[in-house]
Amino acid sequence: MKTAAPTRQVMKTEMNEYEPHIIVTEDGDDFAAASARIFCEAARPLKNPLVILPTGNTPLGMYRCLARDYRNENFWNNFTYVALDEYIGLEDGDPRLFGSWVQRELLDFVAVARDRRITFKSNPHDKGAECARMENFLTENGPADLAVLGLGVNGHIGFNEPGSAFDSRTRVVNLAPETITANSKYWGGEEHVPRTAFTMGLGTLAQARRTVMLVSGMHKADILEKTLTAPISEDIPSTYLRTIPNVTIISDRSAAP
Ligand code: PGA
Repeated sequence: MKTAAPTRQVMKTEMNEYEPHIIVTEDGDDFAAASARIFCEAARPLKNPLVILPTGNTPLGMYRCLARDYRNENFWNNFTYVALDEYIGLEDGDPRLFGSWVQRELLDFVAVARDRRITFKSNPHDKGAECARMENFLTENGPADLAVLGLGVNGHIGFNEPGSAFDSRTRVVNLAPETITANSKYWGGEEHVPRTAFTMGLGTLAQARRTVMLVSGMHKADILEKTLTAPISEDIPSTYLRTIPNVTIISDRSAAP
């Protein structure tokens, strides 16, 4: 069960409000191609790109396009991948591991070095220490140049479910019921979806120099609209995107406002 967390509306006077840059594409290939092109434009000027990448269905087209059309880009030689989140309690080799999902969809094709793939251990001896290890990696090597994100139907970012504090750090969370339902489509049933996960916090993600959120499908139209227009509030974690600069949202026509 999701633990009830106190929520609060973040007052506008507490922070600046920024307007994300929105790019709308056609559905399907056009969305994937535009996402891959924008990703490369962001990575190319960087000497050692440090990039947070998501799992889920939304980025898969972009990953395939990167693996097919951009595999020879020089920046992959010095590219570091940092995982956004991970299920807790899975054994090594489990296909549900988010870290291995990104590796088989993208990193293996573009030959990112093994020691530059920074993922959560799903089954660590000490979960608190595992969160600290990931935070410390970003403190010592970051900030991330780019955070690529998906958007949950409930407004979650990573596994920052509704009620997550905007200054939250990397931590253990319970998945919200809507997330368990949404994730069941990846693994053929809710019984295959772990109930707890690690996630980078919203405060951790807010430190990225640039953020690109990918949104596709009619089922995301309502939450994207709320992300852009609802009062900024921890009830809709994705509204944190309006509290930071340098945010680009790439939406396909079906999800677009
Ligand atoms: P999806 O998941 O890309 O599979 O829709 C997005 C998310 O939950 O962040």
